[in-house]
Amino acid sequence: MENLNTYIEEHKERFLEELLALLKIPSVSADPKFSDDVFEAAEFIKQKMLDAGADNVEICSTAGYPIVYGEKIIDTALPTVLVYGHYDVQPADPYELWHSPPFEPVVKDGNIYARGACDDKGQMYMHLKAFEFMQKTNQLYCNVKFMIEGEEEVGSDNLGPFLEANKEKLAANIVIVSDTSMISLETPSITTGLRGLSYVEVEVTGPNRDLHSGVYGGAVANPINILNKMIASLHDENNHITIPGFYDDVEVLSDSERSAMAEAPFDLANYKSDLDIEDIHGEQGFSTNERTSIRPTLDVNGMWGGYIGEGAKTVLPSKAYAKISMRLVPNQQSEKITALFQKHFESISPASVKVKVTPHHGGEPVVTPVDSIAYKAASKAIVQAFGKEPIPQRSGGSIPIVALFESVLGLKTVLMGFGLDSDAIHSPNEKYGLENYYKGIETIPYFYKYFAEMSA
Ligand code: BES
Ligand code: MN
Ligand code: MN
Repeated sequence: MENLNTYIEEHKERFLEELLALLKIPSVSADPKFSDDVFEAAEFIKQKMLDAGADNVEICSTAGYPIVYGEKIIDTALPTVLVYGHYDVQPADPYELWHSPPFEPVVKDGNIYARGACDDKGQMYMHLKAFEFMQKTNQLYCNVKFMIEGEEEVGSDNLGPFLEANKEKLAANIVIVSDTSMISLETPSITTGLRGLSYVEVEVTGPNRDLHSGVYGGAVANPINILNKMIASLHDENNHITIPGFYDDVEVLSDSERSAMAEAPFDLANYKSDLDIEDIHGEQGFSTNERTSIRPTLDVNGMWGGYIGEGAKTVLPSKAYAKISMRLVPNQQSEKITALFQKHFESISPASVKVKVTPHHGGEPVVTPVDSIAYKAASKAIVQAFGKEPIPQRSGGSIPIVALFESVLGLKTVLMGFGLDSDAIHSPNEKYGLENYYKGIETIPYFYKYFAEMSA
């Protein structure tokens, strides 16, 4: 591509400034306190899409936060790329663990530190800047449609209906998403799978009111003690999940598929020291890489009840709660797994307490093809920008809408992510490497070029 590196070099300061401006908007979709900011982020994206040269740019309202749409149709005979990303971010709590405020981005040691730097503002914004380059230098070789949403971090509830209602408008040949990670800049990879999700909240009720833990303790079930026991029983001594039927639909990989996976570089010592853990933990019979990609899991995300204030209060609480997520793999189904969980959890509850299970959002797992034109174009683009063939690798995270791109729009997705697992997404001190940002902007135009060439 002509002038790609000089264009990036000439405009890199502005590319950074624009991203920093976006990162200053605290568009936390989960917390209504930030509602105005989420809308402001949508306006910001709309303006930048217009500036970059997109047509028919609009803010599409939904029952929740809006979807920003824009397109450039240069020739209906050419293939069309649908770009998906999200402008909403996770809550920044706990604030006290940040070295600098989450919505006052800081560039330090080659990284941008801010909530959303990697997930997904930095990665999504690369697509707008790559488009700007292609548009301004007359090197756009595909039609492009942008669909940037504001509710990914809360389950994309309104995007499914938007896809249903806009099938024609969103017609394309491929969806491209940069919202995942690669192994490293030296070992680039393309994500070829995402896990699904079942998420439930459980409430365990013991006595009808909080009790004096001396007067009643020992004679009445303590719902926190009981809930802990119930949760502990969900894994056996080999860390298999004990819910009957949980593994019934799990896709079993062949030995050759597993040995291909084992080729991916993995440094256990580094993994442990990065997390400051003495040992790893997981399902017996599977490697770390397998445990976080092709195997389903069950984790408590939060648990509360009783007295957690200053000092000691002697109380036998009436209620205990937990939020539990299950990551799913092909061919598990979110609704089915949620139902199995509910049935099992109710069945193991002793008569001394009452149990209520409330399902939250879910999503289906996906596996993307590696023999498609789109995958080959992405691979070739990465070779061009990184000088190395990318490794296909399934990820443990979830982007529930990707399954709907296929079931509703009939479209496959390429998950070309440029983050790193060490970017601390959803965590304090989230970061995104400047090099990742600029390399992403460099890679994307090649994807369009090769995708057009290979589709012809
Ligand atoms: N971008 C992430 C998903 C992700 C991260 C995939 C890293 C692969 C590697 C996305 O924003 C996310 O956080 N998804 C949520 C699910 C959603 C329903 C809240 C997740 O995976 O927990
Ligand atoms: Mn994301
Ligand atoms: Mn996220």
